[in-house]
Amino acid sequence: MIQGCIFDLDGVIVDTARFHFQAWQELAHELGFEFTEKDNERLKGVSRMQSLEILLEIGGIKATEEEKKALADRKNQRYRELISTLTPQDLLPGVMDFLYQARRLNKNIAIASASKNTPLILERLGLSNFFDAVVDGNKITKAKPDPEVFITAAKELGLVPEECVVFEDAVAGVKAAHLGGMIAIGVGTKDRLPDADINILSFQGLRCKHLLEQVQNKIEIY
Ligand code: BG6
Ligand code: MG
Repeated sequence: MIQGCIFDLDGVIVDTARFHFQAWQELAHELGFEFTEKDNERLKGVSRMQSLEILLEIGGIKATEEEKKALADRKNQRYRELISTLTPQDLLPGVMDFLYQARRLNKNIAIASASKNTPLILERLGLSNFFDAVVDGNKITKAKPDPEVFITAAKELGLVPEECVVFEDAVAGVKAAHLGGMIAIGVGTKDRLPDADINILSFQGLRCKHLLEQVQNKIEIY
């Protein structure tokens, strides 16, 4: 029986994925190459330093460790500038209602994100103390697709992986959920997230009870 809902942060509960993209794209332009939305899919869910590695690979650019650190810092500075304007209005449509539904059904709720900026984002959204557990890039050492972030979140909720369902917008995140033994709900089309067990396009109008029943059916089929 599903007892816990674990949510990725960027691109699942809040519309920050576009700011990550913008900041990386500006950096790519400064470095003299194009960086498209399609390229950006590869960066979703992965850590800042790994994202930079992928970006540099796309641009065919070699850099020393020191230069990489400076580039990642520059991207993060720009990203923090962009997210400084976030307000609770930037929660994705239907998210708050869905979280309250989960609460009413006595489900535990957690955030599991690769982002080291998670505390700042939750503060801007007025959700610093809302979740039963928050596991972020400051707490974990292995980035998605490693399942560490989800396994830690389940543990912090006092649950086993089989009792949790993960909400993810990244290919790497769906993979991490599966490696952790959890059902993955893909927030995005089947085209973009072909391996998700169930795909939703948004939380708007979504009935938590109904969705969890669907998850339960999947578990029984598997
Ligand atoms: C993930 C994003 O949530 O966090 C990635 O999907 C990002 O795009 C990663 O690289 C790390 O974020 P931050 O805020 O620590 O640079
Ligand atoms: Mg995400």
